Amino acid sequence: MKITVLNGPNLNLLGKREPEIYGSMTLTDIQVRMLSFIKDDSVEMTFMQSNKEYELVDEIQSLMGKENQFIIINPAAFTHTSVAIRDALQATKVPFIEVHLSNIYAREDFRKKSFFSDIAMGTISGLGANGYLLALSHLLNYTK
Ligand code: DQA
Repeated sequence: MKITVLNGPNLNLLGKREPEIYGSMTLTDIQVRMLSFIKDDSVEMTFMQSNKEYELVDEIQSLMGKENQFIIINPAAFTHTSVAIRDALQATKVPFIEVHLSNIYAREDFRKKSFFSDIAMGTISGLGANGYLLALSHLLNYTK
């Protein structure tokens, strides 16, 4: 199984960025935790963060036609704007879990609309960095 973990704009600033909303862990801290969760050699995990929409689209497209692929994605601000990333996910048909550190439904109205939730396997929002681990745990335990 191959899991690609994608993070959108400004998530490179985690740890320094509004810690009262997004927590004090850096993206590297989260990646280290996720890697330590994997006990099975047959699971490969790669990480990518980009502030550029087209780079996320290109990364998703690169998975097209490959077997046994899953994505964990926090599209960050692109959650609320990106038809392009949604289309890439739909085109490649790679099953994905949408993760948000904050509870996007308890914030500004513009954050309540996600272009991803209706086509995701599931969405985790508001559980902080733990959301990534919960998404990973689901893929490891409940998918074949
Ligand atoms: C976010 C929520 C988005 O609304 C915001 O633009 C982000 C991060 C989250 O993880 O809570 O950058 O996806």
